[in-house]
Amino acid sequence: MSNFKKAAIITGATSGFGKIFAELIDKSFDKAVDEIWIIGRREEKLEQLAFSLSKNVRLFPVDLTDKNSINTIKESLEADRIAVRFLVNAAGFGINTDFEETTETEVHDMVTLNCTALTMLIKVCLPYMTYNSRIVNFASVAAFMPQPGFAQYAATKSYVLSLSRALNPELNKNGIFVTAVCPGPAATEFFDIAVKDDNYPKYKKFFWADPEKVVKKAFKDAMKKKEISIYSPSMKCFFILTKLIPHKFLLKIAKYLNN
Ligand SMILES: NC(=O)c1ccc[n+]([C@@H]2O[C@H](COP(=O)([O-])OP(=O)(O)OC[C@H]3O[C@@H](n4cnc5c(N)ncnc54)[C@H](OP(=O)(O)O)[C@@H]3O)[C@@H](O)[C@H]2O)c1
Repeated sequence: MSNFKKAAIITGATSGFGKIFAELIDKSFDKAVDEIWIIGRREEKLEQLAFSLSKNVRLFPVDLTDKNSINTIKESLEADRIAVRFLVNAAGFGINTDFEETTETEVHDMVTLNCTALTMLIKVCLPYMTYNSRIVNFASVAAFMPQPGFAQYAATKSYVLSLSRALNPELNKNGIFVTAVCPGPAATEFFDIAVKDDNYPKYKKFFWADPEKVVKKAFKDAMKKKEISIYSPSMKCFFILTKLIPHKFLLKIAKYLNN
């Protein structure tokens, strides 16, 4: 494998968690990663990031809701001698509103980006993943129970969490380890899209996390081969509560806190 280029592939690299992950991988590995593939629609943001990184960088300014984008990445993997050491699926979006208020395009794109593109990227990268490599999928604490007012987003994140956990027993024998990252709210561009009006649940503002800290913990947990990464005691507590208390009751508390 010595003449293979060892790559880290990162979606959602133009902002937020994905960008921070790219910076952390760039800093953290000397010989384990030779080049970083960064993916996002905004080319100028990819160029800025590439300029700031020390490793070789390949830019993929593509829309992941377009099936051709997955083919572009697949063809690049086929064309070069690539060993994928890291796949970080951070691209995703949500809209904090009642399902009836969302457009058909939003509904289509959310499931396509959050679920289909993430799954297809795993599928096309797997043949190129080598022993002791990692897949990091960004789910959310929204994956832990249904969320009225954020229904489709929470459902897509439940899919990501379930897929990630189920893949581990299948892939561990090949030395591939999957971590589902389940952040609570963190200050990224996510909320520029997620919050249309002033409809963001007020109580959630008490739980805002620093995105740098979320990513550092996710990176550490992925290196430790942990199945789930949850940053902050309050979010861990929420995770346990969703296992112990009926969701109907927790939803009533959430509604009460928001009034
Ligand atoms: N921030 C939070 O509070 C929070 C909490 C829990 C989970 N998460 C999850 O964490 C992940 C990262 O979110 P973030 O907070 O870092 O949000 P962000 O700053 O908005 O980043 C989202 C990334 O996804 C990319 N993206 C969006 N649509 C795309 C498309 N059609 N094709 C390709 N790339 C696309 C964006 O790049 P372009 O716009 O350039 O395409 C951007 O790089 C998401 O999966 C999100 O659901 C976030």
